[in-house]
Amino acid sequence: MIKMQRQFILTQHNSFAFPAVCPAFYQPSSLQELDIIIDELSPPFYILGEGSNTLFTEPSTTTILHPILKGIAVEEDNDCVFVTAKCGENWHQLVSFCVENGYYGLENLALIPGSVGAAPVQNIGAYGTELSSVIESVQWYEFKTKKLIKLDRNACQFSYRDSIFKHSLADKGVIVEVTFKLSKLWQANLSYQGLDLLAKNATAMDVFQQVIAIRQAKLPDPLSLPNAGSFFKNPIVDNALFKVLIKLYPEMPSYPQANEKVKLAAGWLIEKAGMKGFTVNEVGVDKNQALVLVNYASKKGQDIVKLAHYVQKVVQEKFDIVLEPEVRMLSSNGLTQL
Ligand code: EPU
Repeated sequence: MIKMQRQFILTQHNSFAFPAVCPAFYQPSSLQELDIIIDELSPPFYILGEGSNTLFTEPSTTTILHPILKGIAVEEDNDCVFVTAKCGENWHQLVSFCVENGYYGLENLALIPGSVGAAPVQNIGAYGTELSSVIESVQWYEFKTKKLIKLDRNACQFSYRDSIFKHSLADKGVIVEVTFKLSKLWQANLSYQGLDLLAKNATAMDVFQQVIAIRQAKLPDPLSLPNAGSFFKNPIVDNALFKVLIKLYPEMPSYPQANEKVKLAAGWLIEKAGMKGFTVNEVGVDKNQALVLVNYASKKGQDIVKLAHYVQKVVQEKFDIVLEPEVRMLSSNGLTQL
């Protein structure tokens, strides 16, 4: 029996905890169920993983497809391990499984909320590792043909918080399985601030635990203070603007990129613009990490939308930089912009 519920309340399915209602909520647990559901579904509908990077902007949303395919398979050769996880697996549980079994490469990505299937869409990244560096391939189910298409790492067109799944393949199919190429030989990636405190001979378990400790210290836990992690992307600006800003603010964090561009820290910009800890309408800018917008007690996604506009305006006025949301926003008509 395929799981489908009508007029479903999504409070438990978004980490902002907004009580938006969808007309129908489908939960396929196999490819066979997906085949049947696709015949019933008509656009607009939205594919929702664990809802940790989605903001429902209105009291109602589109129909939701929430894939819950489960399973992890492992294939090994001499040095490498290919771990294949189905889209409905929890991301952090997969990372734990790999660290415990000595499959190395995912440990810097510990404790990121969300599902395996959602991870490639925004190319999750943290503490010096991006998903794109450990992905072997993605199995993508095309709605039109009901066929599986295998995309290798290059075909996914990964960049910072971006992939082909947000562009030409958006709405045309769903990621059902992800294969990671991991290593049996341990090599620590301790480049990120905070991890460099670890000893040079730190184990994968040490890194895993340190990443968890840093995240718990810096980022609010969505279960006790609803939020969707970084609300905005870190902006990538031209060298000309960077030069102006760094003269004014020599302490400003910056990360050089290719093509004479520089990535800045949106959290720093928001804090410097005086918005850290700002609260209005029972939502606010987090007190410790200004890049995170939090929901203290609001029942309306619009309250976050209004706050995000305000943060955008204040930062633009001070730095001439327009922050772009990282979180995906869903209205009753489908994806929407700030
Ligand atoms: N900073 C401030 N004030 C703040 C927040 C940050 O001055 O309120 C400064 C920090 O001191 C640091 C710099 O900004 O110098 C960067 O801060 P941090 O290391 O906390 O990382 P981030 O750039 O704010 C990004 C990712 C996070 C990821 C961390 C660690 C984006 C949009 N966010 O945040 O990802 O965990 O790096 O790698 O790229 C997420 O995507 O939801 C997320 C949490």
